[in-house]
Amino acid sequence: MIELVHSGLPIFLNDDGSLIFKSPLEEKRPSFRRLEDMREYLADPEASFDRDSIYEMYRQIFLPADAEKFKKANLRFDLTVFHPGKLGCEFSKTIGHFHPKNQAGLNYPEIYEVLSGTAYFLIQKMDDSFEKILEAYLIKVNEGQHAVFPAGFGHVTINATDKELVTANFVADVEGIYQPYKTRRGAAYYLLQNKEGNLEIQPNKNYKNLPALKNLKPKETPEFSAMDGQPMYISGQSNINMLEYLNKPELYSDKLSIQNCFTLLKL
Ligand SMILES: [Fe+2]
Repeated sequence: MIELVHSGLPIFLNDDGSLIFKSPLEEKRPSFRRLEDMREYLADPEASFDRDSIYEMYRQIFLPADAEKFKKANLRFDLTVFHPGKLGCEFSKTIGHFHPKNQAGLNYPEIYEVLSGTAYFLIQKMDDSFEKILEAYLIKVNEGQHAVFPAGFGHVTINATDKELVTANFVADVEGIYQPYKTRRGAAYYLLQNKEGNLEIQPNKNYKNLPALKNLKPKETPEFSAMDGQPMYISGQSNINMLEYLNKPELYSDKLSIQNCFTLLKL
């Protein structure tokens, strides 16, 4: 059992891959993303996996004393456990989604924190009708680090390691838009394991005029509660205004950008 210290909460990853919530947190049951729910999002729809559930989502995790404050602020704090393994040649991943627009006409942003393991996030921007792809980035995020996704970026999380990956996220309490990923069988690029056992990035041919994939490294952005080793739950708990950008990105448009939140890596 591993204590997920980067969460700032009494949460543990059990040896069987489940999460254990200790007092004062209440026990929470996850929802499961099973292989059968994912086939249309995979490079290989016939893929198999060595367990029934690819990843589990634990939604709305709050200390009882904080629950009302966060709900009033229209915020969700979720945890996800990604089991290692492969879906055909592809590494274990989420199905991917975009966020809807708020009243000001901007898509809701999101912040992720890696609690255990290493995550790859493949984020992409498309035009309003989801016909044309505009930008695509691959972001490697280590334990204790954060990644802020500016408004308009859909995202897929990938576990390309041989151990469990656990992430936390803060996001406005809204429904995801999955269709653009379903239509094209996943994100703009696939992360595969080649015959030599190395990570290989392959363009998804269901996208036309694909932009080159750029590699990014997250920057610390204290204004968005993204500081290495600092649990974002604790930042939000002590000053909920730090998370206002998740509901009102229009007030932060000068800083809520790829350039401000990431460093471009040379390939
Ligand atoms: Fe999201």
